[in-house]
Amino acid sequence: MLIKKLQDRMNVLAQSNMLRQKWIAQSRTGTHQLINNADHSVSAKHTLFCSNDYLGFASHPDILDALKEGIEIWGGGSGASHLISGHMAPHEQLEMMLSRLFSQIIPDNRCLTFSTGYMANLAVMTVLGEGDCEVFSDELNHASLIDGIRLCKSKVNIYKHRDYEALESMLKKNTSDIRLIVTDGVFSMDGDQADLSVLSDLAVKYDAWIIVDDAHGYGVLGKKGLGSLENEKELSGRIILVGTLGKAAGLSGAFVIANQTIIDYLFQRARSYVYTTAALPAISFALLTSLKLMHGNEGVRRRNHLRSLEGHLRQGLSGMVSAQSNVGLHITKSSSPIQGLVVGDVLSAIDLSSGLLELGFRVPAIRPPTVPSGTSRIRLTLSADHTVNDIDRLMDALHILVNKLA
Ligand SMILES: Cc1ncc(COP(=O)(O)O)c(C=O)c1O
Repeated sequence: MLIKKLQDRMNVLAQSNMLRQKWIAQSRTGTHQLINNADHSVSAKHTLFCSNDYLGFASHPDILDALKEGIEIWGGGSGASHLISGHMAPHEQLEMMLSRLFSQIIPDNRCLTFSTGYMANLAVMTVLGEGDCEVFSDELNHASLIDGIRLCKSKVNIYKHRDYEALESMLKKNTSDIRLIVTDGVFSMDGDQADLSVLSDLAVKYDAWIIVDDAHGYGVLGKKGLGSLENEKELSGRIILVGTLGKAAGLSGAFVIANQTIIDYLFQRARSYVYTTAALPAISFALLTSLKLMHGNEGVRRRNHLRSLEGHLRQGLSGMVSAQSNVGLHITKSSSPIQGLVVGDVLSAIDLSSGLLELGFRVPAIRPPTVPSGTSRIRLTLSADHTVNDIDRLMDALHILVNKLA
């Protein structure tokens, strides 16, 4: 019966064009990659506009050398969870380094690292959402925050995307002991940003705390690369920051930075920290190099290039969208290297994505439930390793395909 039920459900997914497909990369992460589909009927080098390797650090020689050195010194797996025997000097050094980096933005902070951002978000939501607590969550928050919220037992209020008036009226009505406002720093599907100064004022006014998932802002935004919080001088100090290390930092892992009591309590209670094998120490070791580069001149240079690529891409897309106004496309209001081109229905998004694939570009179609229905899109992401020429070639391909849609 189970198999029959699953097959029926798969058929429903297939009929509504919701089946996901597996691609197998045959070369390392980069802006150009050899990929196969599962039955090997497609095998070709593609220009990628879909990875989160925003700074190109996944193939940075110094970081790869540090990874090799980390393995030489620290060996393979950590062998146990952090609280048994798996917590090693590189894990500790990474936490200290991250804590120092954010000391001006979140004073007297502590840091706790996790193997993935998904686990960090589960930890923060389940642990801080205990007891008499209410959660206020932006409707476009990442799935890992949503899953964490589903696991916590608090009452949940979902406000329309960036609608802080709606949020305020929810906060006004609230009577619980603890209030948690939960938001992505940079929204992963639209590329726009939360208004942290407005949220910070609301947090003060209603005695709330703000959980910011800055997976796509950390390393990318701000002169120093500290992300969405870097330019927010007037923050209230009621911030719990989640950052990931598998995107701009080029490796893997995540961190939470917050007030000492919050981190101490997470350390005691977060099941996705306590009951899992600590990440390879070599990764933490290599992250020390990655963060040095990211927050130094190399990071500044790469972020400047990224900014100019973003401008070039947005200019090209805006021109195309207004020239083809009959097709009903629009671009998301992004201020980051994530750019959505919204086509509306699922089939058009899939057609656009597969048309691009045939022309040598890997750009995924994003469909519900990842985005609200009627907003299916292709999602483009840029890396500092892209060139202006990569973008020009992509725009040529898009013009051909969008002309066909018209
Ligand atoms: C906004 C956001 N938060 C969290 C995560 C999860 O991070 P990780 O991939 O390290 O599990 C992602 C990853 O895709 C993300 O986009």
